[in-house]
Amino acid sequence: MTHARFTSALLSCLVSLSLCACDDKASPIGADAAPDAATIDCQELTYDNFAQGFIEDYCLECHHSSVTGSDRKDAPASIDFDDYDLAFRWAVSIKAISGTRPNMPPSFAMALPIPEERMKLVQWIDCGLP
Ligand code: HEC
Repeated sequence: MTHARFTSALLSCLVSLSLCACDDKASPIGADAAPDAATIDCQELTYDNFAQGFIEDYCLECHHSSVTGSDRKDAPASIDFDDYDLAFRWAVSIKAISGTRPNMPPSFAMALPIPEERMKLVQWIDCGLP
């Protein structure tokens, strides 16, 4: 490889790195999300039109700060998703436990999401939780 070609390869590498760093829509799940986000429609699912309802229907039964004692059905205290900020804070865990793996809600929950809804949850999180 000539010196010039090496320099240009190095430059394009630096450019793509800096493009990555400039992405202001940084998702809490990190750079891994970027390829997914590029191939899916991130206008479609929002907290208002999808995620809030999903969390309400499938999580808040046990994970709301107003649910206490045995009503929590052993959901750990302080793992709550009452509002957008809390969902954002827990996004990495929510994606892992309810999206990519069907471990939450537990089988004894009042309602369980279908696989398509879980895929939408992953899509919403991969898009940076719009
Ligand atoms: C019927 C009650 C119930 C519902 C509904 C429920 N959970 Fe849980 N959740 C639990 C219990 C019990 C635990 C603790 C035991 C465990 O981790 O499996 C838990 C633990 C968790 C944890 C912490 C896991 C860890 O590794 O520490 C997360 C994150 C979580 N739930 C997310 C969710 C999400 C997201 C939903 C909705 C899609 C949901 N849960 C719905 C009962 C519930």
